[in-house]
Amino acid sequence: MKRLTTTLSAMALALCVCAQSHQFDINTNKVGAPVQPTMYGIFFEDINYAADGGLYGELVKNRSFEFPDPYMGWNVFGNIQLKNDGPFDKNPHYVRLGYSGHNDKFSGLENEGYFGIGYENGAEYRFSVWARVPEGGEANVRVMLCDPATMGERQQFSEQTVKVNSKEWKKYQVVLKAGKTVNKGTLRLMLARNSAVVDLEHISLFPVDTWKGRENGMRKDLAQALADLHPGVFRFPGGCIVEGTDLDTRYQWKNSVGPVENRPLNENRWHYTFDYRFFPDYFQSYGLGFFEYFQLCEDFGSEALPVVSVGLSCEFQNGDKMSNAHVPLDQLQPYIDDVIDLIEFANGDPAKNKWAKLRADMGHPEPFGLKFVAIGNEQWGEIYPEHLQPFLDQVRKVHPEIKIIGTSGPDSEGKQFDYLWPEMKRMKADLVDEHFYRPESWFLAQGNRYDNYDRKGPKVFAGEYACHGRGKKWNHFEAALLEAAFMTGMERNADIVHMATYAPLFAHIEGWQWRPDMIWYDNLRSMRSCSYYVQQMFSLNKGSNVIPLTMNNKPVAGNADQDGLFASAVVEKATGEVIVKVVNTGDKAQEVTLNLKGLKAKVTYDASLTAYSADNMDGENTLDQPTKYVPKTSSLKIEGNTYTTSVPAKTFYMFKIKK
Ligand code: AHR
Repeated sequence: MKRLTTTLSAMALALCVCAQSHQFDINTNKVGAPVQPTMYGIFFEDINYAADGGLYGELVKNRSFEFPDPYMGWNVFGNIQLKNDGPFDKNPHYVRLGYSGHNDKFSGLENEGYFGIGYENGAEYRFSVWARVPEGGEANVRVMLCDPATMGERQQFSEQTVKVNSKEWKKYQVVLKAGKTVNKGTLRLMLARNSAVVDLEHISLFPVDTWKGRENGMRKDLAQALADLHPGVFRFPGGCIVEGTDLDTRYQWKNSVGPVENRPLNENRWHYTFDYRFFPDYFQSYGLGFFEYFQLCEDFGSEALPVVSVGLSCEFQNGDKMSNAHVPLDQLQPYIDDVIDLIEFANGDPAKNKWAKLRADMGHPEPFGLKFVAIGNEQWGEIYPEHLQPFLDQVRKVHPEIKIIGTSGPDSEGKQFDYLWPEMKRMKADLVDEHFYRPESWFLAQGNRYDNYDRKGPKVFAGEYACHGRGKKWNHFEAALLEAAFMTGMERNADIVHMATYAPLFAHIEGWQWRPDMIWYDNLRSMRSCSYYVQQMFSLNKGSNVIPLTMNNKPVAGNADQDGLFASAVVEKATGEVIVKVVNTGDKAQEVTLNLKGLKAKVTYDASLTAYSADNMDGENTLDQPTKYVPKTSSLKIEGNTYTTSVPAKTFYMFKIKK
């Protein structure tokens, strides 16, 4: 009797294990909606010192002396005067260095960079300056790379001299090789003894080895991190900076193009936004401007998605009632013209349009092939559709080929969201931008967010999102895992979700205003967060089409009820590769069976498994341990058309099967 009971219990246990095995039915023959090439992309905003002090390779802060405090970022000594009738009308300031009155008192200036200047031993740096000798003669300007913290040796570890001998403004350049690695260096300029008086303007220093070797180039490791994401779409330049704290400080793309020396400075909206992260030296040089953004899009193979002002400055700071922070409807024309001119700048014929000609003059006669424009960032209230309408009317009339993206406001749901989505449908926006910075519970509950969206209305652009962990957790692994879970829902609904971009993208470790962020850096090192790796797994493995997938004969519930499992499947038509993503968000391992309809029972298929997991849910990659948590890929053989395995707790598994 006892033996029978034991046998029955064993059978019951076996049945129980069997019942816990989750069946994923994946019909590889049924090619569904295309996954748009734009599906996974990047969103760049100059927040957290993402542009100046980040991606933009310039190492000198306040290079044109245009900050409200003209010497911010500089230490000046000896006989130095600030002048304001320089060669660049939008940046008129420059400095004049002269004899200090004593042979052993030098005149000069020293720049502190952004949280210091990072120098790499053996690397070359291109120094350039616009200069003249106003009274004639010859001036020798000593250019030094320095380590002010050095003890017991000379502070300068590399030096060159620039000889200035023309009364006319001219650009001078020298290349210096760093003899030392320094995280917080400076750039020091000194007028040599017996020199003529010299004027200096637009004092600049870039690594020679920028992304693609461009002189006005990008920091290579950061641009490479973006390239490695294969972003399908590139949204820029913001975010709130598009709107500005007020209308004067909104991002004006026309100021960001043409010669870098004459791009006027703009305040950065993030320099005094938070009292606990205060950065009074945060401005936008526009050295990374719209030409450079379009160029990066081309480099990365991304569709460009510029965001433009709809004539409403930041509604968080100014409310949604008409005020002097918002443009009256009858004064919107210059804003609308800016959009039309932008399309010409990107796509127009240089022989017919002055903005297109400027693009050609900047070195890109071919059109950039712009297809999308977002009008407004996080706007809300009736004031938004009222402002958007005249843009739609005019832009569509002249450029019906351009797809226009409207917004659903700053919230993932609620009053404004519920008001704006129907409004965007009524106005026939092509896509609607949704933003959600939400906690873990939200991401766990929203895996089927898009299952019931209206298929006849605008498409979805998840333009800003990130899981914001509760309890002082930032770029921890669990947040990335929950983003992956949520993203399976976007992928299953790729017929309606056409674009998704995590936010924010970049943060300087000493200069952040907002976290979590996807990529972190100091002056020499960078780190790709766990969220980065999740984005990359999706982006590089998005396939060409969705294929149907059910779980235990039901649609994937998209919430933690299904034992914490989330999943999606796609096929790459060109190669026949089937890609199945399964995210186990739960605390227990789950047995799953992939039933791959369309594969043959007696064939062995080459496959791979990429697993992303961590020993600690609060674990993060750091600058010191940048690859502590990275996905790992192993090869696999799949015998026939079913495959059973156990997905460990809190793990993202991705199977790629060569059909
Ligand atoms: O990504 C940071 C900010 O979040 C963006 O500027 C804004 O659009 C959102 O509120």
